[in-house]
Amino acid sequence: MSVLGALPFLKPVRSPSPRNSPGRQRRHTLPASEFRCLSPEDAISVFEIEREAFISVSGDCPLHLDEIRHFLNLCPELSLGWFEEGRLVAFVIGSLWDEDRLSQAALTLHRPRGAAVHIHVLAVHRTFRQQGKGSILLWRYLQHLRCLPFVRRAVLMCEDFLVPFYAKCGFEALGPCEVTVGALAFTEMQCAVRGHAFMRRNSGC
Ligand SMILES: CC(C)(COP(=O)(O)OP(=O)(O)OC[C@H]1O[C@@H](n2cnc3c(N)ncnc32)[C@H](O)[C@@H]1OP(=O)(O)O)[C@@H](O)C(=O)NCCC(=O)NCCS
Repeated sequence: MSVLGALPFLKPVRSPSPRNSPGRQRRHTLPASEFRCLSPEDAISVFEIEREAFISVSGDCPLHLDEIRHFLNLCPELSLGWFEEGRLVAFVIGSLWDEDRLSQAALTLHRPRGAAVHIHVLAVHRTFRQQGKGSILLWRYLQHLRCLPFVRRAVLMCEDFLVPFYAKCGFEALGPCEVTVGALAFTEMQCAVRGHAFMRRNSGC
């Protein structure tokens, strides 16, 4: 069974068979709201959100299009997208890291033996911000990571103004991150995702 197939709440929603369906005309209706791992085919939608969220503000973004494709090819199970009527409205992309703290190499590498998920980017489409979607998606992502037996913690770097947002989502600050991007400096934050045996037993993992 594939990794994705092993995760019950990420299984694709199957339409009822046409014979049993109360209304056959509904077969092509897109779900109002759907969470699923991303695939390389979603890369352009991801980049569109990044372009508006980061490039239009600072001229750069956490992941360029080729890097998005790279991570979605290597570790799609470490991504999660929120789709509304088929349209991507928010996403998170991570990869594995195998050191205590992040370094410059963490920006581009996926280390398959790592026990930490490095969250490269979380972004919500402009028109959907300040509605709780960022917090909800991050919460669901952490639930998803709890179903992956090799993951011990999630780690990220963010600018200081977002520290309260991630703290509210359960992350603790580790201090200044050694990674810099141009003139930008970051705080490194982490969140344990193991030690919730009760939750794993009862979450269908
Ligand atoms: C940061 C982001 C993911 C938050 O998602 P969201 O859906 O807007 O956030 P929520 O509605 O769940 O939570 C709102 C809280 O987020 C925090 N927040 C969101 N954007 C913020 C910003 N630009 N500056 C400071 N705090 C911010 C605030 O604490 C806010 O709480 P408040 O309403 O009490 O002020 C979203 O604003 C976004 O995509 N921004 C652009 C991309 C980005 O900066 N991503 C993070 C770095 S990878």
